[in-house]
Parts: sequence; C-alpha cells; structure tokens
Amino acid sequence: MLHEQRFSVEFEYPVVFCRGALAPGEPTLAWSISRREPERRHPVFVVLDDGLVAARPSLPAEVEGYLAAHSQHLQLSAPPHQVPGGEAVKNDPALLNDLHQRLATARLDKQGCLLIIGGGAVLDAAGYVGSTTHRGVRIVRMPTTVLAQNDAGVGVKTSVNAFGSKNFLGTFAPPFAVINDVELLGTLPLRDVRAGLAEAVKVALIRDVAFFAWLEQHAAELRQGATEPLERAVRRCAELHLGHIASAGDPFEKGSARPLDYGHWAAHKLETLTHHDLRHGEAVSIGMALDACYAAHKGMLAEADRDRLCGLLKALGLPVYHPALVAENQGKSALLAGLSEFREHLGGALCVTLLTGIGSGIEVHDMDSAAISSSIAWLAAHQG
Ligand SMILES: NC(=O)c1ccc[n+]([C@@H]2O[C@H](COP(=O)([O-])OP(=O)(O)OC[C@H]3O[C@@H](n4cnc5c(N)ncnc54)[C@H](O)[C@@H]3O)[C@@H](O)[C@H]2O)c1
Ligand SMILES: [Zn+2]
Repeated sequence: MLHEQRFSVEFEYPVVFCRGALAPGEPTLAWSISRREPERRHPVFVVLDDGLVAARPSLPAEVEGYLAAHSQHLQLSAPPHQVPGGEAVKNDPALLNDLHQRLATARLDKQGCLLIIGGGAVLDAAGYVGSTTHRGVRIVRMPTTVLAQNDAGVGVKTSVNAFGSKNFLGTFAPPFAVINDVELLGTLPLRDVRAGLAEAVKVALIRDVAFFAWLEQHAAELRQGATEPLERAVRRCAELHLGHIASAGDPFEKGSARPLDYGHWAAHKLETLTHHDLRHGEAVSIGMALDACYAAHKGMLAEADRDRLCGLLKALGLPVYHPALVAENQGKSALLAGLSEFREHLGGALCVTLLTGIGSGIEVHDMDSAAISSSIAWLAAHQG
C-alpha cells in the first residue's frame, strides 16, 4: 500500500529598496516586522555585524532610537548584540551556541523577530541560528554589502562552515522581510563594492542583455561606488535573483542545474586556493572570464563576446586572472580538482553553465582539461 504524500507551501516576503531606513520617522522597517499583527508589540532581537559597527559607530544607537520611536509596534528584547563580521562568524561554533543561548534568554517566540544587520556572512550565520530556533523565528535582514544586497541577502539560504567545509551546515529559510538600504553601503571599501558587482555582471550575462549594456555604460561610475548607479545595479541584480528563485522551478535547489552559478566552479576553488585573499566576487570575475574563454575556445561563443565580457570586468576594476589558476598539487592542476568538487556540491551530474552569447547560456556536463589550460594561458596573456 503506497500513500503518496504531497503538499505545497507558498512563501511571500517583501524586499524593499530604500534609503535611510533607520531614520526614526521611516515606517518601512517597523511595518515589515509588524505587518501581520499590527495590533501586537513585537519583540525584536538585533544582531549587528561588528565590522559594520566599526565603520559606523553610531549604528547601535540608531537602532535603539528607531525601536524607541516605534515602541507601539516594536520592543527591543535585549541590547543589540554584535558578532564578528566576515567568515569568522561562520567558522566558530561557540559564537553560534552563544547566539542560540541569547535567543533562549530573550525568550524570542515564533512571532518574534530576529533583525540581522550586516554582510552576507553575518546574515548566513545569524540566519542559520534564527532558522533553527523554534524551527524558525521570523528573520528580517538588512544586508550591508553590495553582494549581500544583490545576492546573498535576498535569497532563501542560510549556512555556516563546519568540519572543514564551507557552508556545510545550513537551512533553506525564506526571510520574513528584506530591507535593502543603499545608505548602509556608504562605508563599504571600494574593493568590496566592486567585488559585489561581479554578481551583477553574472546575472546580466545569463538573463538580461540590456542590463549588461547598462553596466557597460556606467562602469566608470560604478567602479567608484557612485550611489545612484550602484543603487540601480544592486536593485536590478537583486530582482533577477529574486525572479530566478520565484520562477525557475527549483527554489530549494534540489536539482543539479544552477544557471546562476555561472563562473562559480572555478571561483569556489580559487577562493580556497588563495585562502580567501580573493573576495568571492573577485573569484567569480576570474571564473566568468575563464568560462567565457573556454566557450570561445570551443566555438560556442563569439570571440567578440568574450572580449566584451573581459572588457566590462576590467572596466569595473575586477580581475580576470590570478596565478592560483595554474597552481599544482602533486603535479596536477589544483583548479581541475575544483570541477569534481563542484560536481559533489551539486550532487550527481556535473552541470556547468556556459555562454553562447551575452544574455544566454546552456548547460554542459563535462569540460575538457586541455581547453581549460589553453583558456588560462589566454587569460594570462590578456589580463592587463
Ligand atoms: N546565503 C546565500 O545565498 C549566499 C549567497 C552568496 C554568498 N553568501 C555568503 O556571503 C558571505 C560573503 O558576504 P559579503 O560579501 O557580504 O561579505 P562579508 O559578510 O564577509 O563581509 C566582509 C567584511 O565587510 C564588513 N562589512 C559589512 N558591511 C559593511 C559596511 N557597510 N561597511 C564596512 N564594512 C562592512 C564585514 O564586517 C566584513 O569584515 C560568504 O560567507 C558567502 O558564503 C551567501
Ligand atoms: Zn556568487
């Protein structure tokens, strides 16, 4: 006797693009937390990225002031809690345990809100804690890097590193709301601004040729972090990621195909090989250039399109080459080991997206090492 259990669950969350969301008179953040039960006062536990606080020391007071101004709807359940920014927070189980403990002490219930303000790493780690507390409290994210606003912070995943593996533990946990405030990017170093733009180039390449052309036109301003074009680029990139999650049919990534992981097989390996000296976005930039060279080498992509992509990456101040591309491990290419690791990460068949033109890609299931080596040699000669 077979009973086939089947049901579906709908998810809904607002993603707001704004400026100055923490100004006391701004209603958006309070609304996003209290929108389902406006008559109730919602307990809010706030987690802050300490790197962000170092760059913006007024932040804890701004958050407390905001909650006080909206005390009809919101109530701070503990003083804002700072955690280390960057990968450190994802690497230390003691920090996670401490945060679980604090949520227990604050007696945050399932309608309580965990408000996380920080970069992708803090959103991932605190999100993981929030999504495993009472099997998931409400999480409101305020991402504070370009990468977090246009990619990591708008999606449905959380994770921490464990047992030597990046993102080994994690959950699929759609947020309760996302507030993308471009002013929070004001303190971000230019290097991180540019690295985050690599993801915008990536989605444009796969999904939106007009956006690619727009990025080309505004590359010089974007490279300097000019607020208005940056706001538009972040927004369009986030929309394309959100559209993909909502309509590509695999929001929780059960299949092997990940078109928006373009350039990422080499990127993941380069991040490890350089011990994270390369930012994720910088590694993605090199990975995208490599896969475009490969596609051109195989006759799938016009050389003019390969050159257009490399030209845009360079105009944005992003790298297209790194010596780690030719690193060897016991006489074998370390990068090529990354292909089989990527297959494991996908689970099952290798599925790599390659470009057939700007704005269009196809899936391939194997890659030829000789052509990868020639592509690396081409990039070494054309990196300047
Ligand atoms: N969940 C997902 O879907 C997803 C997707 C992509 C990436 N990620 C993860 O995101 C992480 C990378 O995130 P990231 O690129 O946002 O960097 P990050 O979170 O590692 O932050 C980089 C540094 O910037 C600091 N910082 C953050 N905001 C700042 C600001 N406004 N001003 C000054 N300094 C600031 C942080 O303290 C940190 O030192 C990785 O761990 C990656 O695995 C997750
Ligand atoms: Zn990425």
